[in-house]
Amino acid sequence: MAQRVRKAVLPVAGLGTRFLPATKIIPKEMIPVVDKPVVQYAIEEARAAGIEEFIFVSAEGKESIAAHFSGHAVLEKSLESKNKAAELKLVRDASLPPGAFKVVIQHNPLGLGHAVWCAKELVGREPFAVILPDDMVLSKTSCMKQLIDAHAEVGGHVVAVENVAREHTSRYGILNVASDDGRLAKALGLVEKPQPDKAPSTLAIIGRYVLDPSVFDELDKHTRGAGNEIQLTDALNNTMPRVAFHGLRFEGIRYDCGTRVGFVEANVAFALANPELAPRLRPLLERLMGR
Ligand code: G1P
Repeated sequence: MAQRVRKAVLPVAGLGTRFLPATKIIPKEMIPVVDKPVVQYAIEEARAAGIEEFIFVSAEGKESIAAHFSGHAVLEKSLESKNKAAELKLVRDASLPPGAFKVVIQHNPLGLGHAVWCAKELVGREPFAVILPDDMVLSKTSCMKQLIDAHAEVGGHVVAVENVAREHTSRYGILNVASDDGRLAKALGLVEKPQPDKAPSTLAIIGRYVLDPSVFDELDKHTRGAGNEIQLTDALNNTMPRVAFHGLRFEGIRYDCGTRVGFVEANVAFALANPELAPRLRPLLERLMGR
């Protein structure tokens, strides 16, 4: 029986340069998709999967992320005195219980593997989740819950995967597939951002992972990989075959909020998934498309 997954690591130290000037002061993760900061979707998805403890791997100047998940006494008092119950609920729902999150500062941006390594002491020796908030998933069941359920079946490392166009393999960690039942793909190995002609498959990792803590033993070595960065993909690769590795084709649609077009697409998709907004938005979109 796999150990319960209680903790999630959220790497949020990036400078968000692709979204300048919006990200000059506001962290990229705090920019809203429809009506909620991107990072709040990640936290809600993890909480829906039973995760109770959150570790933000952050950077100087991004304190508003932690502030967003803390209580806000002045605002809450004011809303209470005005009987604004719905608004008060929105504020309270965005807060995590006291002690439920911690922040570690990644002083040097040395890559995703390094960001995860920064959370090592706070995670300890138990399986844990990693969520990259830039990848947003619209699904019936929380994508992280789907991963945790699969992890309970097969243990080891389980990551969310999807098929990508071959010309896009150089944007992702790609699986070298050993066997595949159409839902779970067992991997022999992984390659970070291979060129299309070198990619062992087109099955790509998206930003959701449930990891065995043995990955920290590899990350401890601080080995540089693609782009001269410490790659999580390489560390995971080096734990195989000692640790099983599966990719889960999750139910849902992933939106890549790391690009401007993906971000706009996510806004439209999440608004269309909102029953309050969709009926008003649909005719507007049709009108725009007709122009
Ligand atoms: C990271 C990982 C990559 C993964 C991707 C998913 O890359 O290194 O393996 O496929 O996230 O979004 P990044 O997008 O940070 O360059």
